[in-house]
Amino acid sequence: MLKKALENVLTEKESDELISAFDQIGEIIIVRIPDSLLSKKKIIGKALLDDVKIVRSVFYQSSAVSGDFRTRDLEILAGEDNTETEYKEFGCRFTVDVEKAFFSPRLSTERERIANLIQNGEVVTNMFAGIGMFSIMAAKKKKCTVYSLDINPIASKLCETNIELNKLLGNVISINGDASEIIKEQSIDKSDRTLMLLPERSDEFLQSAIDTTKDGGIIHYYSHIHADKKTDAGKLSEEHYLQVTPVKSEILHSKIVRAVGPRYYQTVVDVKISK
Ligand SMILES: C[S@@+](CC[C@H](N)C(=O)[O-])C[C@H]1O[C@@H](n2cnc3c(N)ncnc32)[C@H](O)[C@@H]1O
Repeated sequence: MLKKALENVLTEKESDELISAFDQIGEIIIVRIPDSLLSKKKIIGKALLDDVKIVRSVFYQSSAVSGDFRTRDLEILAGEDNTETEYKEFGCRFTVDVEKAFFSPRLSTERERIANLIQNGEVVTNMFAGIGMFSIMAAKKKKCTVYSLDINPIASKLCETNIELNKLLGNVISINGDASEIIKEQSIDKSDRTLMLLPERSDEFLQSAIDTTKDGGIIHYYSHIHADKKTDAGKLSEEHYLQVTPVKSEILHSKIVRAVGPRYYQTVVDVKISK
C-alpha cells in the first residue's frame, strides 16, 4: 500500500530502496530515507499523507535510536506536528509518543511469545519496560503481576496511561527510575520471570536481573550478536550468555528476534537460573 502511494513520485528502484524503511504506527508514518533520496523527502511525505487513509502525520527519522532513553529524532515532512498517537496490538490499546519514548511495532511477535510463556500467578519484572508494551500484553493475557520499570519519566507516565486504558490497575505497576537501583532497594528475589529488553547493555545489568529473579525463575536475556550465518545467531548468543553469567543456568530456548544490520541480529536467550 505504501509502495503504491509513491508510484508517481519515485522510480520502481527508488521505492524498493525505501520500502523496508517504513513504520506505520496508528495515525503516524515514520520513514527512514537514504541520502540519495533526501532531496525528495517533502514530496515523499506529502504523497504518503495524501494516499494512506488514516494517516495524519508523516515524519522522517533523522537520527538512529540512541541515548539512555533509546529515542530518535523526527522531522515533520507532512501533516500535523504531533508525535503522540494511539496504537492497537492483540486487543490492547496504547498511547505512544514516537519521539519521546522508545516504541517499535517490529517487536509484536516477541511480545506475543512472552505473553504466551507467562503462567497465571507469576510475578514478572520488566526491567526496561518503556511505555509498557510487554507488561500490558502479558497482564491482559494472563493473571500475573508485572513490575514495569523505566528510567525515562515520559515512558513511565505513558505506561501509567496505558495501564488505565487497558484497565490493569494493580496488575501492572509502573515504576520510574534506574532498574538496578529499584531492584536493589525493593525487589530482591521477587520475580518468577525477568525481561531484559535493553540488548546493548544486557551484560551490565545481568547481575540485577539475577538479583530480582527467584531461584528457579526465568530470565529473558536479549543481546546483539554478529553472525556470518543467520542460523548460528541463536547458538552464538547462548554461548555468550553462558560465558558472562555468574549463576548456574539451564538454557530453555534461543532465537533471533529481528535483524538489526547486515549479519547483525537481536537475539533472545530464555534461561532458568539456580541460585
Ligand atoms: C529498547 S527500549 C525497550 C522498551 C520496551 N521494552 C519495549 O519493547 O517497548 C529500552 C528502554 O530501557 C530504558 N532504560 C534505559 N536505561 C535504563 C535503566 N538504567 N533502568 C531502567 N530503564 C532503562 C529506556 O528508557 C527504554 O525505554
